[in-house]
Amino acid sequence: MQTLQTTSLRVRDNQLFILDQQALPQEVKWLEANSVPSLVDHILTLRVRGAPLIGLSASLLLGLLAERGLSRDELLAALETLRASRPTAVNLMNNLDRMRLALQQEAFVPALVAEAQRLVDEDKRLCERIAEAGSALVAPGSRLLTHCNTGGLATAGVGTALGVINRAHRQGNVANVWVDETRPLLQGGRLTAWELGELGVPYQLITDSMAAGLMAQGQVDAVWVGADRIAANGDVANKIGTYSLAVLAKFHNIPFYVAAPRTTLDPHCPNGAAIPIEQRAAVEVTGAAGSFGSVRWAPQDARVYNPAFDVTPAELITGWVLDSGVAGPEAVRAGAFAVG
Ligand code: MRU
Repeated sequence: MQTLQTTSLRVRDNQLFILDQQALPQEVKWLEANSVPSLVDHILTLRVRGAPLIGLSASLLLGLLAERGLSRDELLAALETLRASRPTAVNLMNNLDRMRLALQQEAFVPALVAEAQRLVDEDKRLCERIAEAGSALVAPGSRLLTHCNTGGLATAGVGTALGVINRAHRQGNVANVWVDETRPLLQGGRLTAWELGELGVPYQLITDSMAAGLMAQGQVDAVWVGADRIAANGDVANKIGTYSLAVLAKFHNIPFYVAAPRTTLDPHCPNGAAIPIEQRAAVEVTGAAGSFGSVRWAPQDARVYNPAFDVTPAELITGWVLDSGVAGPEAVRAGAFAVG
């Protein structure tokens, strides 16, 4: 496979490497991801994370495994294992469905390699189009609030919501970005803060609970988030805490935008209630661990509820900013995201 480099994926000498998103921002560390168990472990531990990136890493690994001579049956088994690694972000399933079609071709090795590379190139283009469509919605002097991490780390390109924010910043229209730290795994505090710093975008880090007060003070002009799955009726699964931001935005009359590529659409999923929500380990809530160290503050035997995502109903969303442009509530109600 050709050499490839994105913010957080690297293919070199037919080996796949990932930028360890658990080590950031303390350490910039690249790890090998050359077998199915190793990539699944990276995905489960969120060293590889973000809806588009999960699907792309799995596709690249399949391409590389095909080149190493795995049989069609072995590749199919690998595909199914990777497909089951995280349940909510549909980009993984959508990308692997395309890889499965490539696997059905007679010359499946070059077909898998070409499809994996095509998916990466496509994602870059989709991100650019999202940034273009979304930045047109950002008025001069905007104070934007974002949640989780939706940047170059989470995609092959400039990101989704963060790509919009960066483009709008370069157009001179961003006064400040409020970055939710995003408990429990701190994708905002660790990753978005790091990315915005690298990009030179002005930001202030806040704890998730500060958004309401800022909105009440009139200090938030719009909320921009990404998505892990968009159902046919426009309901959106995204990082836990997104729904509360949408409710707050509605109450304070603040526009709430979701930015995502077409690979995040699930036209076969009728609504948010049908989206599988990943439940994660209690230790993520009883304390925090990472390259910054580890700490537990809750009682050892504390009972925990830890869904990784929540669902924002379509009625709370002002606009769905896709690579195809901005869909408003009327278009979505009329079936813009439904099958056919
Ligand atoms: O658990 P994560 O970190 O993979 O969750 C990521 C998110 O919720 C992002 O907002 C989403 O994947 C969009 S990334 C462009």
